[in-house]
Amino acid sequence: MLIAIITGASSGLGREYVHALDREGLDEIWVIARRKERLQELAEKTITPLRILACDLTEPAVLHAISAELEKNHPIVNYLINAAGFGKIGSFADIPTEELCAMIDLNCRAAVALTQMSIPYMPPTGGILNLCSCAAFQPIPFLNVYAASKAFLLHYTRALHAELLPKGIHVTALCPYWIESTEFISHAKDTKNSSYIEKFPFPQDIALVIRRSLEGLEKNAEVVTPGIIPFLHRALAGLLPHSIMMRASARFHAMKS
Ligand SMILES: NC(=O)c1ccc[n+]([C@@H]2O[C@H](COP(=O)([O-])OP(=O)(O)OC[C@H]3O[C@@H](n4cnc5c(N)ncnc54)[C@H](OP(=O)(O)O)[C@@H]3O)[C@@H](O)[C@H]2O)c1
Repeated sequence: MLIAIITGASSGLGREYVHALDREGLDEIWVIARRKERLQELAEKTITPLRILACDLTEPAVLHAISAELEKNHPIVNYLINAAGFGKIGSFADIPTEELCAMIDLNCRAAVALTQMSIPYMPPTGGILNLCSCAAFQPIPFLNVYAASKAFLLHYTRALHAELLPKGIHVTALCPYWIESTEFISHAKDTKNSSYIEKFPFPQDIALVIRRSLEGLEKNAEVVTPGIIPFLHRALAGLLPHSIMMRASARFHAMKS
């Protein structure tokens, strides 16, 4: 049984990856997110049968259950797309500690666990796509845990890319800038002091992000910056002292709050 595993499939990028892989001739796509009804609606729109794993990836027992599902079915995992993730914008005082820790559990822990458990089932042509972010390129005040979690995921993915080269398994970190047609911002600004951020300028087109990232995975790119803004962001973060970029984002926050 040839499958793809896609987390965060109930909305935004994850859902678009399901559509993008729908005509790949897979036997099943395993879709993971908490909102079961969204996944069921998605299953009505795809040709490929979806295996719905409605669960909260921050719960360790859930990760064991997915591992058991893999052991039971012994599929060939041709794609793993770790798209589930969330961020919270605000000062350390605005965001409850449990939410900060949940961000680490989902953005880092779950992505690592799913990757580890999938690798033994991947063929040499298989691919792992980890959804990082431009936020990964430098520390960001008032987006501190999110940016740090994405920096972790970016470094982890780049290192794994090198480790899996001899096996032929492709591993790519995707670092997009802001994509409007997702639920990301509505969750991000849902904090005690949320008035200062509604949107960012020059949002990215979701279709372009999906296309460029799958092309990058196909070519086994280590990092994909899909578009001019993420490309320049990465270049600037490599050139400028991070203190300058951090000061700029702290000023932006001060203006808005
Ligand atoms: N949109 C952007 O501007 C942007 C930019 C750079 C990077 N990214 C990254 O891209 C990835 C996809 O985000 P998106 O923009 O598509 O946002 P989104 O529309 O909010 O989608 C997030 C997905 O994650 C799932 N999810 C959240 N918490 C979960 C949990 N505890 N257990 C299981 N699933 C969970 C959500 O499903 P349920 O709520 O149904 O569980 C949803 O399907 C994220 O990792 C994000 O950090 C986004």
